[in-house]
Amino acid sequence: MTGGRFAAEERDWNPSVKSGWFAMAEALPRTRPPLLAAEEIAALPAMERRRYDQARAAWHANLGPIRTPQVDAVFEALEEICGSNLQDGDKVRPAAVLDALPGLGKTTAALAFGRWFHREQIEMHGPQVKTGDGTWQRIPVAYLGLTSHTTMRSLNAMLCRFYGLPERGNADLLAHRAAECVMNCKPRLIVVDDVHFLDVTRRDGREVANHFKWLANVFPVTFLFVGVGLRARGLLDEGLAGTDAAFSQTARRWNVLTMDPFEIRTQAGQRTWRQLLLGIERDLVLTSAWRGMIAGDLPEYLFARSTGHFASLMSMIGRGCYRAIKTGAESLTAGLLLNEGTALFIIANALRLAHPSHRDKELAGQAATAGSTLATAEAETSGCCSLAASAPAEAESPACCAAATGVPAAGETPSCCAPATPTAEAPSSGQVSTAQAARGGRNDL
Ligand SMILES: Nc1ncnc2c1ncn2[C@@H]1O[C@H](COP(=O)(O)OP(=O)(O)OP(=O)(O)O)[C@@H](O)[C@H]1O
Ligand SMILES: [Mg+2]
Repeated sequence: MTGGRFAAEERDWNPSVKSGWFAMAEALPRTRPPLLAAEEIAALPAMERRRYDQARAAWHANLGPIRTPQVDAVFEALEEICGSNLQDGDKVRPAAVLDALPGLGKTTAALAFGRWFHREQIEMHGPQVKTGDGTWQRIPVAYLGLTSHTTMRSLNAMLCRFYGLPERGNADLLAHRAAECVMNCKPRLIVVDDVHFLDVTRRDGREVANHFKWLANVFPVTFLFVGVGLRARGLLDEGLAGTDAAFSQTARRWNVLTMDPFEIRTQAGQRTWRQLLLGIERDLVLTSAWRGMIAGDLPEYLFARSTGHFASLMSMIGRGCYRAIKTGAESLTAGLLLNEGTALFIIANALRLAHPSHRDKELAGQAATAGSTLATAEAETSGCCSLAASAPAEAESPACCAAATGVPAAGETPSCCAPATPTAEAPSSGQVSTAQAARGGRNDL
């Protein structure tokens, strides 16, 4: 979209190619659309009004990255690993692994760290690399997103594509081409995302996994492997045996980081959740919003619906804001966020968390209270668990399916039913802060 006072910038870059990575890493933060009063909005010419609403929708769809304690911990560890990985070429640089459930913000955190690291390296060493035979562009970070059926050849082709090199030739030729670039452009971090696509029970997958381990051993680069259930899939160790055992040894020395879903069972968890919601709330551009709109009024509701997964929460917020703008409500309430079928989903989800097979009405009542009073009528329905099939989008997302891993012990109150403890309004140190708040600091996302 172009023109007008509220022009929204298009940012459809692809970080898997060098030009897209640079565009993303070097872009200025988005500008928050101004918060207009209802009368000002009403006075906008029709096209300006559409642009204003679209600029707000784009803003709400791209909130963050928010610095949660989990993100902070990952950042700190990665900074330490990359900062200390200065071994000479004949020594191995230990790799990092970010292994967590789906939808918790792994890619977001990895990209944000890569972006920060990119800027740091260029600021410190300059945009060019001088070698004996000329000058190369410094490319401190490379990002590869694996797909299913990644083979040695397609992996090497992916590397070549990132560096803008020809993709013709067999796996060896492509590897050779990419290696030359790796040596000259001084990458210091290579992020390999969605590593769970490698199936180490198949020969293809094992070959690629071993190739990575070989690359991590021979290139003066820190590899950051990101994925879901990597240890369980055998990618870190036991899946590789026999002649692969040497690499398996290497993998065992890798630094494995993880990110936990949010929880509201403990006071610390409740505080973090509330700080996250406060951070989000502060960033929203809704005319009728009030302080505490989501952090004060909807913490349990949002937890019940998102089961503490970032992806579900942010998609709910983004869609909710879109609806709030479209309907003119200009604020977020449980009523506005509640979709057809959502009430049943809330109950079913809370019951699954509490007791996978429980159909007791009392528990259903607790779940309904936690989710929304609007759902109470539905709580009379027996067999709620079987109704999850009619749940809205979040129910189908892998993030929510993974919620079962957070199942409390039988008889324990479901985490989503625990009341949030009121906390101080301002985020305290070590708590959630928005990227905007952190901007200008060393940990700028
Ligand atoms: N720190 C954050 N701040 C704001 N939003 C976030 C943050 N982390 C995650 N999100 C939201 O959650 C969505 C999913 O995050 P992301 O893709 O990083 O998760 P993931 O763990 O990589 O998921 P998957 O396992 O499916 O690859 C993002 O598109 C974004 O909307
Ligand atoms: Mg991801």
